Amino acid sequence: MRTCYAGQVSEKLLDQTVTLMGWAHRRRDHGGVIFIDLRDREGLVQIVCDPDRPDMFKTAEGVRNEFCLKIVGKVRARPAGTENAGLVSGKVEVLCHELEVLNPSVTPPFQLDDENLSETTRLTHRVLDLRRPYMQNNLKLRYRVAMECRKYLDEQGFIDIETPMLTKSTPEGARDYLVPSRVHDGMFFALPQSPQLFKQLLMVAGYDRYYQITKCFRDEDLRADRQPEFTQIDIETSFLTEEEIRSMFEGMIRHVFQKAMNVDLGEYPVMKYADAMHLYGSDKPDLRVKLQFTELTDAMGDVDFKVFSTPATTPGGRVVALRVPGGAELSRGEIDSYTEFVKIYGAKGLAWIKVNEVAKGRDGLQSPIVKNLHDAAIQAILTRTGAQDGDILFFGADKAKIVNDAIGALRLKVGHSEFAKAKGLFEDRWAPLWVVDFPMFEHDEDESRWNAVHHPFTAPKDGHEDYMATDPGKCIAKAYDMVLNGWELGGGSVRIHRAEVQAKVFEALNISPEDQRIKFGFLLDALQYGAPPHGGLAFGLDRLVTLMTKAESIRDVIAFPKTQRAQCLLTGAPSNVDEKQLRELHIRLRNAAAATGA
Ligand code: AMO
Ligand code: AMP
Repeated sequence: MRTCYAGQVSEKLLDQTVTLMGWAHRRRDHGGVIFIDLRDREGLVQIVCDPDRPDMFKTAEGVRNEFCLKIVGKVRARPAGTENAGLVSGKVEVLCHELEVLNPSVTPPFQLDDENLSETTRLTHRVLDLRRPYMQNNLKLRYRVAMECRKYLDEQGFIDIETPMLTKSTPEGARDYLVPSRVHDGMFFALPQSPQLFKQLLMVAGYDRYYQITKCFRDEDLRADRQPEFTQIDIETSFLTEEEIRSMFEGMIRHVFQKAMNVDLGEYPVMKYADAMHLYGSDKPDLRVKLQFTELTDAMGDVDFKVFSTPATTPGGRVVALRVPGGAELSRGEIDSYTEFVKIYGAKGLAWIKVNEVAKGRDGLQSPIVKNLHDAAIQAILTRTGAQDGDILFFGADKAKIVNDAIGALRLKVGHSEFAKAKGLFEDRWAPLWVVDFPMFEHDEDESRWNAVHHPFTAPKDGHEDYMATDPGKCIAKAYDMVLNGWELGGGSVRIHRAEVQAKVFEALNISPEDQRIKFGFLLDALQYGAPPHGGLAFGLDRLVTLMTKAESIRDVIAFPKTQRAQCLLTGAPSNVDEKQLRELHIRLRNAAAATGA
């Protein structure tokens, strides 16, 4: 049996004999003495192998990187000048008495402490990648976070109830992963996009505080903060108001940060969705960036510059400025690259004004557009933005969605740049936030219909029920998102618990009564049996841990993640299957070449 972890050997164990099990991280042969850095999940310790124990020394000579070893030895102080302050065990080393190779290793395809490994290499050799201290720390923190959530929830009387993985399509708005049924020819299960409907059913069934840390599956375009299968901390409660739910789960996340990171997040600010869009063009603003939009739509209707006047006078159009203090020193090259950047988000260009001397009015400005703006418009721009000498103003003018997306992204791009950090426009802190009062519906221009912003079981604000029929765009939901440093960490809502209100929502969404029955009949039925008022939310565990570890990608906090192309490089999934399996599932492939992997 091991006496302790290698990474825990410290001066507290001086002169004691320890038994350690781990891997040879590195072996250095110093002509006559062999040093082995022994690694386990808690860290490294230096093992010293002296030739005066010839059998042991001979074994040590054969040790190579990643051999699995058992070592018995005595802890002693390192000679003065050879301490390593970076290690818990840095003041000591273990003089090896016995060395056993538990298992040799073939030569690893890379050095474990190589900082410049490609992600493809790391994911292909994930087992070795997972041996790296970086990944071990990430996964240990992930465990700690999940554990602290469980403790908090248990304390509050929540119980963990599992819900099915083979189920019916759920309405979170992504594409489903489907599983063909062998028993029922032509029929499919869907993997859950979330436990949403089941947790509501559990409320009706009287389990008034439910939680689950569970996998969800969504076949959507992947980004740095998305995985096709990811983990939610999923929660539902009965009899609590929106404010009570928010306060309870703000408490949970604050608890987790306190326990796992020793960070006090403080009380969260609460921002209405409309204000977030107005000031930041985003429903998940990164409040570390100290830049805001200035509304100009109402002041640009009568300028000669069509780029501004057209959206200013067209319903659904928007014109805003983004003031960047000190930005007049940005070069033409930098402005041009920002112009190219906003085009990714559909912007047609990026107008700008450098404010050299605000006191000189028009003559103090440098810009390709001021010649097209009359004095009153220029005055409005300068006054509203509060522009100072040395600033640059960027402008977005288009449909509101394009302006919000493009200038919102520009705000982050500029705000996260070295320039912004040097100018104090970026605060390095934790910036949590609740965004509340989301609209119930958003209009899908292409299909000219209304869609649910959260999901169709979200309750409208009291007094907004009638808007569902008369003016869906005006209807506000009891929905809320928790945002941290510009990431949506979690979201939820108070649900509809009365069948007649639910029917109105389906009507607004243009879901026919037949479709309602087919898709959600079991929920509508359950709501008729005295369903309690209820609501909840779900947090993305992967995202939470990614933020806490400051990892670059969500994949760095998941043991076995998928790539951006939704593949597992370790196992090679997805893969082709036998014709026999397909036949049993009643499936014939449309693309014969794909069937053989050609
Ligand atoms: P929602 O769809 O907002 O809500 O999801 C909740 C949280 O899950 C995380 N998340 C993801 N994380 C990684 N990869 C993904 N592809 C991914 N998609 C979502 C986010 C998000 O905030 N049933 C509702 C919750 C409720 O109403 O109670 C739901 O699933 O952090
Ligand atoms: P133009 O008159 O098209 O040459 O544009 C003059 C300036 O306005 C240039 O700096 C363009 O990048 C910018 N511009 C063009 N379209 C837009 C737009 N929709 N929003 C903001 N700026 C724009």
